[in-house]
Amino acid sequence: MIIGNWKMNTARADAVALAEAVANIEHQASTRVGICPPALWIDPIAHILEGSSILLGAQDCIGDQFGAQTGCINADMAHDAGCAMAILGHSERRARFGETSASLLPAVAAVLETGMFPVFCVGETQEERESGRALDVVAKQIRPLLTAGLDLGGIVIAYEPVWAIGTGLSATRADIEEMHATVRDVLGRTDALVLYGGSVSPESADEVFSAEGVSGALVGGASLNADKFAAIVAAWERK
Ligand code: 13P
Repeated sequence: MIIGNWKMNTARADAVALAEAVANIEHQASTRVGICPPALWIDPIAHILEGSSILLGAQDCIGDQFGAQTGCINADMAHDAGCAMAILGHSERRARFGETSASLLPAVAAVLETGMFPVFCVGETQEERESGRALDVVAKQIRPLLTAGLDLGGIVIAYEPVWAIGTGLSATRADIEEMHATVRDVLGRTDALVLYGGSVSPESADEVFSAEGVSGALVGGASLNADKFAAIVAAWERK
């Protein structure tokens, strides 16, 4: 699974052009490819992706029912707009808006309830890795999911070391393998899809995908260029 997270990028015309280019990316039926544009562009892009195999996703949503929540979108809205998935708990949202795994549980439940799948993000900071706490920190980010009585069969986890996001740095193959095994272990699901994210590019993809237990990538910056995004899909398929 290769997912592009466009974050807060693309003016409307750029988003349309990028989605049109991504819609033409060829990939094997066994590879799921998707994009998560800014919420405002989900609707026009849903029309562009109609009839294509590219999945559409929201970058965030909340678990509340319809109601008085200024500025928010809920899981039903994302689903209604044509999304197949929603990213939840990205480190940028954890840092800026104080989201925690516990506070995200209603959103995880609501996303699963609609039939979409959550792409639930976890990852340690540089300081946490350097002090030897990376595995512990990520285990703590995963554990609340187990307490909520959710059927986690459809959940996708994205391991994104915070220090690797947008920096050109990448975790070592051994560290990725260790972390992905830990994520599956804590989840109690050997079959869980665990993506890697953090500066995945056409240049770094082969090395990342050679790590055992990597189910694909959550791609930020490189997903804003259709050729680079296609090259990452191709790297996945030749691994
Ligand atoms: P970059 O690929 O730009 O490092 O972003 C990764 C990310 O945060 C995807 O969610």
